[in-house]
Amino acid sequence: MTRKKAVLITGASRGIGAEIARKCTDPTVRDETKPLVLITARSVDRLHEMEKESNGAMIAIPADITRADDRAQLVDRIGKILYEQDADFHGLVHNAGVLRAKSFLKLTEEDWNVHYQTHLLGPAMLTQLLIPTFSSAGGHILHISSMGGFQGSKKFPGLSAYSAIKGALSILAECLSGELMDRNIACNALCLGAVQTEMLKEAFPGLEVSTQPEDMGAWISEFLWKGHRFFNGKILPVSLQDPG
Ligand SMILES: NC(=O)c1ccc[n+]([C@@H]2O[C@H](COP(=O)([O-])OP(=O)(O)OC[C@H]3O[C@@H](n4cnc5c(N)ncnc54)[C@H](OP(=O)(O)O)[C@@H]3O)[C@@H](O)[C@H]2O)c1
Repeated sequence: MTRKKAVLITGASRGIGAEIARKCTDPTVRDETKPLVLITARSVDRLHEMEKESNGAMIAIPADITRADDRAQLVDRIGKILYEQDADFHGLVHNAGVLRAKSFLKLTEEDWNVHYQTHLLGPAMLTQLLIPTFSSAGGHILHISSMGGFQGSKKFPGLSAYSAIKGALSILAECLSGELMDRNIACNALCLGAVQTEMLKEAFPGLEVSTQPEDMGAWISEFLWKGHRFFNGKILPVSLQDPG
């Protein structure tokens, strides 16, 4: 019998992350293997609702990725689930994000730290803990970055901390692609343009964009399952419009 393949989606309680998780359970966007979709975020109730709706395809593991103890418990739980479900770990999507839109002169050290911990340090430390969990067949790590962090893109006021750290997250994907090649793990960064989510509404009230989280979630999910066969260490713009 074919073993299940497991993927972990961070920031899966709403927005793009929730849609990536939903689409990962859809048989039309992945290969023939039965998926096991592990979802994490801080909102316990929303995660459990998604788990319930998924009829066993998703497992909720609440965690704050900025906290070392949460990350350790998350990885420990994943190890146990893989063993119980006879599953191989195939993929990781670093999607969790925050955006404090503020002019550079108003950004506090705490604002910088929140962006850094959520978009760079948390993902880096979580990846480090999860590397031994990947099966020998390897897999795919995806960094959800932003057009704001893409070199040469149009830049918008209020996004300096967010965009600078997203840029670093993208470069980390390039670095890991080399380091993890001998384990058959590909690592890519997707620099998204604007998607109509709560984050966008809060950062740019009144702005309406055409890309919906369901569409972006479907695209990212497909890329997670198949993109590592063709891309490694790439920073890819996925954008129709700015800002992102
Ligand atoms: N929407 C856009 O236009 C756009 C454009 C470019 C890039 N992006 C990127 O795409 C990703 C998803 O964005 P979105 O628009 O879907 O945002 P969103 O609706 O605000 O969702 C963000 C998700 O991240 C989770 N999260 C935040 N901090 C966390 C933490 N410390 N630990 C664990 N989970 C945490 C949130 O869940 P909890 O609050 O439950 O923890 C939520 O599930 C982000 O990385 C964002 O930067 C978005």
